[in-house]
Amino acid sequence: MRPLKSTRIPRKGAIIVTIHNLVKSVVSAALLAALSSTVVLAQGNVQAGQEKAATCAACHGASGNDSVLPNVPKLGGQGERYLVKQLHEIKADLRKVPLMTPIVANLSEQDMADLAAYFASLQAPRGAVEKAKLELGQKLYRAGDAKLGVAACSACHAPDGKGIASAGFPALSGQDTPYVELQLKSFRSGDRNNDQSDVMRMVTARLNDKEIAALASYVAGLH
Ligand code: HEC
Ligand code: HEC
Repeated sequence: MRPLKSTRIPRKGAIIVTIHNLVKSVVSAALLAALSSTVVLAQGNVQAGQEKAATCAACHGASGNDSVLPNVPKLGGQGERYLVKQLHEIKADLRKVPLMTPIVANLSEQDMADLAAYFASLQAPRGAVEKAKLELGQKLYRAGDAKLGVAACSACHAPDGKGIASAGFPALSGQDTPYVELQLKSFRSGDRNNDQSDVMRMVTARLNDKEIAALASYVAGLH
């Protein structure tokens, strides 16, 4: 094997190291959970998922992205791993979604895997950013705020908002703005606390309402 040409380690600012460690700890927690799990993860089947998704359409829309109700997330093109995790946690009441409680109660591991495979296979949604919110939203999304200790969203949700499916980091691009705003506020208040290693609770802890509104609008326009 050829020896490494350089052993120089690039200098990094403290905040970048912190974010890097945060990302690493979330990824390794996810890996650990996967390794230590005794349950063999079911393999999802898109066709079977489509049949099982009939009950979801009432709220999530036929395309997964066209709900007529407020604050119902778009599911099209969302990462499979993230979808399975949410279904599990909604069923276990670790994430409280009262509207869905009766629907998830009887879902098996296979059902959840099939549903996740189906929604992941659908087209990702498109949205638009409100012009007045672009600048602040973009700044926070791309760079975070070192003074506030807010990590850059793009580190985990990717610069184009597509997330990192394999790590379970959800896609945000094109998502419904009021829904995103609600989730960020729920993480901030701790009402939603199913995020591994508190990652989203830490990120939102110091964001104010104006910053949250800007971010929620900004991600809608990402693609
Ligand atoms: C009666 C309405 C309703 C039905 C039917 C319904 N959902 Fe939901 N679902 C919701 C609402 C509302 C939320 C968001 C709740 C919140 O604010 O956290 C949600 C959230 C989700 C989420 C989390 C998405 C994310 O981005 O975090 C998933 C996954 C999901 N639903 C899947 C399904 C599937 C699969 C079905 C069918 C088996 C289904 N839902 C049926 C109302 C519904
Ligand atoms: C270190 C990684 C990381 C950073 C940085 C990060 N997130 Fe997240 N985010 C996550 C993970 C992981 C989840 C999924 C939590 C779960 O499993 O429920 C998530 C979930 C979310 C959700 C919920 C999505 C849904 O469909 O319900 C939103 C909205 C969100 N993040 C927005 C942001 C914004 C805005 C920022 C920047 C201010 C940000 N995130 C920074 C890792 C991160």
